[in-house]
Amino acid sequence: SGSAHISELPMEILIRLFRYLGPEDLCRCGQVCTAWWGLVKTGSLWRHLYPVRWARGDFYSGPPGYLDQEPDEEWVKNLQDEGRAYQEWDEDADVDESEEADNPAINTVQREKRLLNGMIQNLLPAVGPSVRTIVLAYSSAVSSKMNLHTLCPNLTHLDLTQTDVTDSAFDSWASLGVCSSLEHLDLSGCEKITDHTLKRLSLGLGDLTSPLSSRNSPEWRTKLLMGPPPPLKLEVGPALLAGGRSRQAMIFKRRPGVRGSSCSPAHVFVFDLEEPADIEDVAEWSRHGGIPVPDTSTAGVLEVQTAGGSSCCCRRGRRQGLSTGSGSAAYWQQRYLSFGEAQCGHSACCGGETALRTFKGAEFDLQATGGSAHLRTKLLPEGQSPNNRTEHSGTFRSLRFLSLSGCYHVTDMGLRSLSQRGGLPRVEHLNLSGCPFVSEVGLQELVSVCPALNDEHFYYCDNINGPHADTASGCQNLQCGFRVCCRSGE
Ligand code: FES
Repeated sequence: SGSAHISELPMEILIRLFRYLGPEDLCRCGQVCTAWWGLVKTGSLWRHLYPVRWARGDFYSGPPGYLDQEPDEEWVKNLQDEGRAYQEWDEDADVDESEEADNPAINTVQREKRLLNGMIQNLLPAVGPSVRTIVLAYSSAVSSKMNLHTLCPNLTHLDLTQTDVTDSAFDSWASLGVCSSLEHLDLSGCEKITDHTLKRLSLGLGDLTSPLSSRNSPEWRTKLLMGPPPPLKLEVGPALLAGGRSRQAMIFKRRPGVRGSSCSPAHVFVFDLEEPADIEDVAEWSRHGGIPVPDTSTAGVLEVQTAGGSSCCCRRGRRQGLSTGSGSAAYWQQRYLSFGEAQCGHSACCGGETALRTFKGAEFDLQATGGSAHLRTKLLPEGQSPNNRTEHSGTFRSLRFLSLSGCYHVTDMGLRSLSQRGGLPRVEHLNLSGCPFVSEVGLQELVSVCPALNDEHFYYCDNINGPHADTASGCQNLQCGFRVCCRSGE
């Protein structure tokens, strides 16, 4: 008596247990049944992805901090040997790629390729918006066609060190602000990268010089005069299903009688227990105006429960930004205006005084609550309250780390692209070693818009008499046997 089968555990508990598992065990759990596969696809379980390491039996899945150190030389050499062996084998027209090769090095790369393809086809479409880190350094399996950034729009850390990617891998960054959350980009040794990638990167990082991002702009002043938009209100109403059927769903609406009360379309959030979602995913859906209502009787509903009837914290952020003059003001202005006055949809915003929770559909009595019940779920990490979510603090042009070491096609044109739209105000680490075609002028232009640059982490060709010559760290590729350097062999 008193014992319960594991299948009877609430999904919140199961997800909490799943947090203790690594990627390999999570995938095994996902094979148990459809319901568990749905739980395994919870976004918060897949924040940091290291497919190259996972394919080699290292299942670390924490934040990338410890990887900031230079990788172990032997590890790098092994990966390079494997890559070479695989390339030779792959170029042989007679080989059947679906078959196991005799060479363990080739098998390892094949495993990595299968893992990457599996992630792209089965996992990232579900958890992509929650992914913050992808490390593919020294991968022989990564391809420019994989388009990982489209699947993972909220990436903060992308490491493509010493891979074969070309400019086309970054096509999806050609829209303004599309990779605005990116903080760490390592393209060391990506020799096929040219100025085109830097142009796209500059666009994707956003534009700090846009009129909408200026606190003194007429548009911004108009917003101030109009005052903040009215608070959101939760109502219960019919939501249209595919096929024209309808069902009850939770709907966010403006409070009547206040500016904008009739103009904002309702946003519907339905939490499907078959496909449990992370809070970040829900925020992403809200950004796009809601999600289709699933046709399942087990669907739960999701509500925003706002402490003290407070309004959206985007507006709090904006006020703080204005009163304190903090650097976040431009970000909030931009976000606030860009996404309109509907629910901001940003997890950092919604985390302030807002708790997102779920209930099982069958347990939720709409009549009894009168449509204003406080519902429950949350998929916050253990020990983390909604108030202390600091992750994903993204600011436009929030890049802190950029390495183009060995990207020898890069010229002053590419650097100029990065200098535009407000420069790189947060960059502390800039590595342009092995870029002999940039000049003193291009470097000077870029450095002049990198006020946070730490000279200790500023590298460029020793043959260039560039900015901060006395304090910068010089070229990092002098002793490197495999990355471009104009003095290699001296
Ligand atoms: Fe000129 Fe290395 S690229 S010293």
